[in-house]
Amino acid sequence: SKKWVLLVTAQTPTNIAVIKYWGKRDESLILPINDSISVTLDPAHLCTTTTVSVSPSFDQDRMWLNGKEISLSGGRFQRCLKEIRARASDVEDEKKGIKITKKDWENLHLHISSYNNFPTAAGLASSAAGFACLVFSLAKLMNVKEDLGQLSAIARQGSGSACRSLYGGFVKWIMGKNDDGSDSIAVQLADEKHWDELVIVIAVVSSRQKETSSTSGMRETVETSMLIKHRAKEVVPKRIVEMEEAIKKRDFPSFARLACADSNQFHAVCMDTSPPIFYMNDTSHRIIGCVEKWNRAEESPQVAYTFDAGPNAVMIARNRKVAALLLQRLLFHFPPNADTDLNSYVIGDKSILQ
Ligand code: PMV
Repeated sequence: SKKWVLLVTAQTPTNIAVIKYWGKRDESLILPINDSISVTLDPAHLCTTTTVSVSPSFDQDRMWLNGKEISLSGGRFQRCLKEIRARASDVEDEKKGIKITKKDWENLHLHISSYNNFPTAAGLASSAAGFACLVFSLAKLMNVKEDLGQLSAIARQGSGSACRSLYGGFVKWIMGKNDDGSDSIAVQLADEKHWDELVIVIAVVSSRQKETSSTSGMRETVETSMLIKHRAKEVVPKRIVEMEEAIKKRDFPSFARLACADSNQFHAVCMDTSPPIFYMNDTSHRIIGCVEKWNRAEESPQVAYTFDAGPNAVMIARNRKVAALLLQRLLFHFPPNADTDLNSYVIGDKSILQ
């Protein structure tokens, strides 16, 4: 009969890099020029929920994002769908009397519905959570038997940073050496319980969409910046080792020093691009100033900051008490309705969760 529908729902949080990925050595497979390390957020705050369904009555693959239909014709969606379909295996639901063989998956069509629990336009890394969730839920629906590392290599082909969202806690994306990308995968460095005193505070500086996409920004940087060569070869490899050590030992001063320095070098590399790319604005710079001043006034750093391809500040407080102080200070320096465009805050309850 054509009446049945089989569905799977999954939820995936976004992740924030503390050692940044910027620059590809292969654009279609999305292979990076350096390793990166990120922290996966609490799904209660910034996450994607995706339901994938299959039915013999569907006559084409279709997708809805936040209730609005979007095109699936882009190369990145197509690549993820193709890779998952190629690994599909038999599925049987005796109660519903459904049997799908490996061969059937080639002709069955999918409906995909995805929601972000945060504004998609706010430039808060929505593609990372989105592609990770898409790949994970499709793999469950189609009974794909690969492990998370292999799924991360598929999510990577949707959006590079997405490969890191398949794990909670602290995650490393290993750049890999192979030309086919088979060893460019994510691994978990520590789970979400390892360092759960940390609290992540996000200051939404502007909810406008970024002007330069990460794809074209990275391309321009790799083509024109000298600094990026130095960064990828000499700076990041050392920082990766030091950051792994800092995470392992829960050494906040080292963690904060490395995360802030790496964010600043990423933005320096953007400025070293021709034409230069500016992701941060005046408010972002003022936030850096406040945090730096505070950290220098204390015996050791209390807060780390990091900025992605946009002006929003991600701050990591060493504990709950510091996070509460940070919010007070932000409100003092950036009162609502002042002439800055800092308009809201998101605070992580439990900073790191699956
Ligand atoms: O995965 P993309 O194409 O959205 O690129 C992400 C780039 C940064 O967010 C700036 C850094 C990172 O490692 O996530």
